Amino acid sequence: MYFNKYPHRSNFSFVETFDPETGVVTAGVRVFATEVDSHEGDIYHVRVSNPDVWPETCGLSELDVPAPCARQRLKANDDFQLSLLGRDAKPLITGEFGVSGDASMFVFELGGDARFYGMGEKYFGKMELSGYRTKFWNTDVWGDFHFAQWGEHPSDPPYFSLPYLVAKIGDEYVGFLLHNSHPTFIETPGSDESRVFVEWQRTSERLILGSEGGEPNLWVIYGPSLAEVTRKLQKLIGTTPVPPAWSLGYHQSRWGYGGHADLMRLDEGFAKHKIPCDGLWLDLDYMDGFRIFQTNEANFPDGVSTTAETLAKHDRHIVPIIDPGVKKESGYRVYDDGHAQRVFCQNAEGGEYVGLVWPGETVFPDFTLPRVSDWWAGYIQEFAESGFGACWIDMNDPSTGPVDPNGMRFADGKLPHEAHHNDYSLGMQRATFDGFRRARPHERPFILSRSGFIGSSRYAAIWTGDNLANRFYLKSSIPTSVNLSISGQPFNGADLGGFGGDVTDELMLDWTKAHFLFPFLRNHANRGTRDKEPFAFPEPVMAVIRRYIRLRYKLFPYLYNLFVQQEEQGDPILRPLFYEFDGVGLDKIDDQFMVGPSILQAPFVEEGVKKRTVTLPGLEPWYDAANGDWIEPGERTAKAGRESTPLYLRAGAIVPMQPGTPVDNTKELRDVNLHLFMPPAWSGESELEYVADDGISYAYTSGARSRLKVRVVSVDGNLAIATDQTQDGFGLIAPTFVIHGDPKSVRLNGSEVVLEKNKVTLAGKPLAVVVVRA
Ligand code: NOJ
Repeated sequence: MYFNKYPHRSNFSFVETFDPETGVVTAGVRVFATEVDSHEGDIYHVRVSNPDVWPETCGLSELDVPAPCARQRLKANDDFQLSLLGRDAKPLITGEFGVSGDASMFVFELGGDARFYGMGEKYFGKMELSGYRTKFWNTDVWGDFHFAQWGEHPSDPPYFSLPYLVAKIGDEYVGFLLHNSHPTFIETPGSDESRVFVEWQRTSERLILGSEGGEPNLWVIYGPSLAEVTRKLQKLIGTTPVPPAWSLGYHQSRWGYGGHADLMRLDEGFAKHKIPCDGLWLDLDYMDGFRIFQTNEANFPDGVSTTAETLAKHDRHIVPIIDPGVKKESGYRVYDDGHAQRVFCQNAEGGEYVGLVWPGETVFPDFTLPRVSDWWAGYIQEFAESGFGACWIDMNDPSTGPVDPNGMRFADGKLPHEAHHNDYSLGMQRATFDGFRRARPHERPFILSRSGFIGSSRYAAIWTGDNLANRFYLKSSIPTSVNLSISGQPFNGADLGGFGGDVTDELMLDWTKAHFLFPFLRNHANRGTRDKEPFAFPEPVMAVIRRYIRLRYKLFPYLYNLFVQQEEQGDPILRPLFYEFDGVGLDKIDDQFMVGPSILQAPFVEEGVKKRTVTLPGLEPWYDAANGDWIEPGERTAKAGRESTPLYLRAGAIVPMQPGTPVDNTKELRDVNLHLFMPPAWSGESELEYVADDGISYAYTSGARSRLKVRVVSVDGNLAIATDQTQDGFGLIAPTFVIHGDPKSVRLNGSEVVLEKNKVTLAGKPLAVVVVRA
């Protein structure tokens, strides 16, 4: 498997004959069956099959396929030319299909002005992805590339494969999903001249979506808007079930925290400095000699449960790392049991495949076999019952160290490595999720995974792997996480402050301000690097870090509700500006993003910069959370400040927040402050549907949830607020309205109300607000 060599279309035979009655096509000397199916929501599936060429189908990920329907925007004409009709019933894209041995490709012609996004997890540093050739092959970046490649440059492919692309053609968006667990590739037209040194580096003029093996299953999703495409994709591959509330808090990790003593030190540090922190993470050091499911008892003198109970007093959870690799050592319970039950992947000779990972010789459970997933879930259950609240699954690319992974076979040795390399981690996520459900059937599991595949959204949050404490990784983290979010993996984040290398104070401040509202927020560090807990920094730096962690907790009701919307509608948490707004050039902005529909961030990511340009999209003014000014849309200048960050709220936005300034892990959803951002003399209206539940159990799926509908209408600054609690399974939601603006009058549910003046601090200085109590 080459990372940077791609099948070329001249080596492919394209379809020559097609029988529309039977769907049979010929390409080269071979015959294939085809199906082009329409599904509700303008979703299309093109399948080409031939069991002699592709014996298995799409791998481990399951799709929630909408019902078939008659509408045929995507058609195959008499010579199997595929064409997707746009809004005006004219072809938006046309394409053909070809094969070369086991490999296959779809080649599409798109309008000249096509633009591209998505591609799952990529480190390209750009939101818009014209002119790229890329592969999807889960890679242990630090293991498989040289430092010179990943130190300050995009290395590709990284850990997580989500072979998905969104194309914008005119003003219509189309999504393409390659549902195939084999290595896949995409080549987008257009070029970035800075990357073209010789002519052959220029990509094809047509869009190519292909695979090096495995049955071709292409899903084509018509929007027409980006939001519609994304929601449809997410529902197809699986929305993220609303996670436990605590997983949305701040997390502290380091390769080096070993057990009870470290956890107690951290617990005291966060309590002493009044910094909320929900998760304390343990890396390999807690294990007994890198043996998974075996804790070094010396690190937990009174047992894990006792430590867990102590931490629970401050609402903190322990999250230990688990790798898939099992130390090959007779006498080690997990190995002996797995060996006896034949759970490990085989090599070409029918023996156990051996890689070289942390414990030395390492064997790997074969998650393609249901009996092995069941075996794994049993160990996870036992592990969870020993006191661990969640789990961090790492090295599941799968990383085999210096040993060639191609020797690792699946399905009792019947399938070659490439058939399941990319969805190995999905199998591990699913089995781990299952283990936690067995241990605590009523609790929502929380799993963080490094690698993943189509459908990981159902089981795990993803962090974007090993980054470095430098500006390249800070800058590229924004397009990486945003593109991953619109590719169907919304619960994601990068190691805060960078995993490798020593972060400087200034970089840590910029990074914290940029990421404090990322869906997943964990400060993690490589062994031997500078201490990075907030209180390891000098007091003035710590104070700013603390301020933004607290602001995340203040905004917890907003974040949590974005996750509820994700589960219900499929909207991502992080969004590009063009998800919410139309506007020329918005996709050239790589250092701004939306958190949900209401918050726009334009953080400082360059070193030592004192001011930056901020593009405020749309037609209405934006509220500057640093100073309370209303700013007209367009290109504006923001000044850097130690305490502040450029963060803007949309006119008319209703943003749920916790009252006051959170100093611990309290997450109150019913006693909520609804902040309304109201421009001067505002005439407009907006709505919010706000949800509260217990934040931990599945009771919400059987009605234990409350829902409040809020509608505000303002005419020349005279405000009318109407509330309606439409669901009360979790009791009464008691909102207080906090108005950022200067209403002339306020009526709440028809009655005139008394206005109270107060101050609120968000991303800068204290802001004057008007408070309306129900
Ligand atoms: C690799 C992971 O990416 C990193 O986060 C972790 O600290 C090390 N493995 C050690 O477990």
